[in-house]
Amino acid sequence: MDISAKKRIIFPLDCPTLEEAEYYVTILKDYVGLFKIGLELFVSAGPEALKRIMAISGVDQKNIFLDMKFHDIPETVRGAYRAASMHGASFVTVHCDEGRRLLETVAKEDISGTRVLAVTLLTSLDRGSLVELGYSPDMTPEKIVLRRAEFAIEAGCDGVVCSGSEVRAVKERFGLDFIVVVPGIRPSWSLVNNDDQRRIITPAGAIRNMADYVVVGRPIRQANDPVAAAIKIAGEIEEALLNRSVK
Ligand code: C5P
Repeated sequence: MDISAKKRIIFPLDCPTLEEAEYYVTILKDYVGLFKIGLELFVSAGPEALKRIMAISGVDQKNIFLDMKFHDIPETVRGAYRAASMHGASFVTVHCDEGRRLLETVAKEDISGTRVLAVTLLTSLDRGSLVELGYSPDMTPEKIVLRRAEFAIEAGCDGVVCSGSEVRAVKERFGLDFIVVVPGIRPSWSLVNNDDQRRIITPAGAIRNMADYVVVGRPIRQANDPVAAAIKIAGEIEEALLNRSVK
């Protein structure tokens, strides 16, 4: 997959209002590849957010990642996926927690243009959180991610979301065409207050480990100069791409 460095950056519009989201789209549209609309913005602004952001960021780019992390019974999620597709999202996310049947129901829908990514294990969870949730101590994040990625690919999903520590194992086992998106990105120079992310990695580390896309929110949004931060991250990604055999 030959994608330029900046196009690999997904910027989450984790904003309370559409006005604030539009501000970030306006300043960052030439410096990142996709905009991610998640729970906060969708709950406050609804499908209008997709329309506005597509209009501002350029009609020729279908660059909206609708990250609702769907988690419900298969029939309900199937309907939500159809609706997301009608609103023009190029990616949607579905939780793996509900199991294989949900992923199959969604991935088998005959919808082109809206790719389905399975969320394996949130990057805000670490080994301690897994034990707390009742997993046995030998169930590492990597084992869980690989197991869930296996049923995601078998179900027909286009890819998965996992941390930068598991992406290489996913690519080695399931092949380079299976898309991997990595959140929990923290450049060495970024300072995020009260960080909830646990399984973190630098942008270059994720790309070296064969990530296709990285989700970078607070390191850009909380920077004194968000555009300069995005440019710096794209530079780090570009350098990492030069050193990897598959671009
Ligand atoms: O870089 P930062 O931590 O601010 O990114 C936060 C974003 O990452 C949120 O929009 C959140 O939904 C997303 N995220 C994700 N998958 C995870 C963890 C976080 O898409 N496993």
